[in-house]
This record gives sequence, structure tokens and C-alpha cells, in this order.
Amino acid sequence: MYSAKENRYENTQLRHAGDSGLVLPPVSLGLWRHFSDQDPFADRREVILAAFDRGMFHFDVADHYGTPYGASERLLGRILASDLKPYRDEIVVSTKVGYEMHPGAFGTGTSRKAIAQDINASLRRLQTDYVDVYYAHRFDDQTPLHETVRALDDVVRSGKALYIGISNYDNAQTKEAVKLFRELGTPLVLSQMSYNMFNRSVETTGLLDTLRQSGVGMVAYGPLSEGLLSDRYLDGIPEDFPIHPTNRGTFKNGRDAVVTKLQQLNSIAHDRNQTLSQMALAWLLRDKVVASVIIGTTSVAHLDDNLKASEHLDFTDAELQAIAVILD
Ligand SMILES: NC(=O)c1ccc[n+]([C@@H]2O[C@H](COP(=O)([O-])OP(=O)(O)OC[C@H]3O[C@@H](n4cnc5c(N)ncnc54)[C@H](OP(=O)(O)O)[C@@H]3O)[C@@H](O)[C@H]2O)c1
Repeated sequence: MYSAKENRYENTQLRHAGDSGLVLPPVSLGLWRHFSDQDPFADRREVILAAFDRGMFHFDVADHYGTPYGASERLLGRILASDLKPYRDEIVVSTKVGYEMHPGAFGTGTSRKAIAQDINASLRRLQTDYVDVYYAHRFDDQTPLHETVRALDDVVRSGKALYIGISNYDNAQTKEAVKLFRELGTPLVLSQMSYNMFNRSVETTGLLDTLRQSGVGMVAYGPLSEGLLSDRYLDGIPEDFPIHPTNRGTFKNGRDAVVTKLQQLNSIAHDRNQTLSQMALAWLLRDKVVASVIIGTTSVAHLDDNLKASEHLDFTDAELQAIAVILD
């Protein structure tokens, strides 16, 4: 019988999701890869409970995660209904709608019908009455944005979600969504985007500034660029490295160029008494608009490594300048 560590929040800092009252831990756990039906349940349970014991109270999934689709939500649901049941009020569960779930016109996208069906299916798999954050996982260009916004607003009004997020919306789409949600009074509090040292498009497109001005927080997904930004690849990157589509630009000058950058960044991290992973996460969290970074891991040792990032979030101007030169 699991009982959560009493001192679980001892080292947890809280960060606001934009201007809202929703707070998140600096480092959150995502269950996209390797939290599926074919993965060893006992090992994954251990990681999830280790995270909660360390004050990571935010778990991120999506309807579409896992094989078959829905498997990651089901896995988390099993734990929410058992070990974590007494702690549901302490936990932030976020899930998403928008990518393919089943054949037919309403198995994908964010039409009113797709959303109305999907939230119920997610709640069933997660074995919970509500999710804390419900995201539109992608911009659906086949559905008018005002329809998606109205449908998500209804999800909040029905009590099935407390807050709304958007994910993979570009700057212009975000501005329009903010306006429409505001008109309805819907609590749009987060934008979840691919953001890491090697992929700074949210900075260059102006999205980060839009979020700051709109009082919406950012959640950075893939903050270690699928693990590249760790000490694992300092001697080379395998050809079959599973880079996310949003990070493909990372290899534009070849893998050896990336390895050189990793070694240079690692040297700065070393001087800061951090591992490369810790520095990569701290570098994102130095900006308050980043409410949390969502890491993916199957290892308690990596969890511990990453959690230490928040112990040292400050960077000197000289460090930032040296990092900028490497990343250029
Ligand atoms: N909204 C979206 O469209 C979207 C898209 C992608 C992802 N996401 C969310 O973001 C989450 C994280 O994405 P991600 O898995 O790409 O994140 P990530 O944390 O950048 O990469 C995960 C990889 O890094 C490795 N890793 C983690 N910590 C490490 C450490 N300290 N040292 C060495 N290796 C380490 C993991 O391997 P080990 O298992 O061995 O630790 C895993 O292979 C997902 O689970 C999902 O919730 C959202």
C-alpha cells in the first residue's frame, strides 16, 4: 500500500500559470513515450510515484499518447484510481484533444463533436471526474477557431476541466485564441510548445512575448530535445536518434556540430556545478513566463538529476552570453 512521503513538498517551488491561480512545479512529468500497454507497469508506477514523492504534482498526457491510443491515459488512470487516489486534490492532471484517436471525421481535430466525445473518453480512461488542464493539442484548420473555443469553454462550464490550454498554436493563432477565450471569460492559462536550447522558435516568432503580454503561461515540452541535452551524447549521436518533428532543425549542420555544442554547453554546466540536463532545464526556467518544463523519463535517477535544476535558476550575463554564442 503506497503512502506518499510526508516531506514531498519540502523542496518544491511553485510557479504560476500566467496570471492565473493555477500553480505548477518547475519540472513536470510527461507520459508520451514509454508509458504504454507494452511497457512494464511496475517500473512506470515506480517513476510516477517517485515523482509525486518528490513534489512533482503535475502529470501530462494526451488522449492520443501510447499504443494503442489512450494507453498512457489508461496507465495514469490506474494509478490515479489506486495509489494516488487519496491525493487527487493535490495533483494537476493535464490531457489533450486534437490528434487522431479513431477512424472517421470526428476521431481527430477539435470540432465541437470531437471535443464533446473526447473529454468523456479521456475522463473514463483517467478514472477521474475532471482534468485540471484540457488542451487543444494542435490548431485545427478544418474547424473555425470560434467553434473550438466555444466547445472548450463548454468543457470548463460542465466541470469536466478546470483550465484550458492550447498547444502547437503559432503566434497569430494564439493571439486570436486569447481574444476569443477572453470574450467568453474562459480560463485559458497555458500554451504548451516545443522549447529547448536547440529550438528557440517560440522566442523568434514572438510567441513568448505574446504569452507574457496576455498573462498566459508557457509549458515547455521536449525540454531536453528528447534527451540530447544530457551527458548521454557527448561522444556522438546515433543515426536512429528519435528526434521530434519540431526539433528536426537541430541537425541542420550535421550531428558532429551538435556534439561539439553539447560539449561546450557541458563545460559551462560543469562550471555552474550542474549537469547538462540541469542547466538545460534551468535555462528555460530562468524566464518566469515558463510555468513548467515537462520532461519524459523512465528512470528515477534521471528524475532526480532533472529535479535539481530548480536549485540554480540564475544565470550571470557572462553565462548567458557564452551560451548564446554556442547556440547561434
Ligand atoms: N504538446 C505536444 O505536442 C507534445 C509533444 C511532445 C511531447 N510533449 C510532452 O512533453 C513530454 C516530454 O517530452 P520528451 O519525452 O520529448 O521530453 P525530454 O525530457 O526532452 O526527452 C525525454 C528523453 O530524455 C531522456 N532523459 C530525461 N532526463 C534525462 C537525464 N537527466 N539524462 C539523460 N537522459 C534523460 C529520457 O530517457 P530516460 O527514459 O532514459 O530518462 C528520454 O529519452 C511528453 O511526455 C509529453 O507529455 C508534448
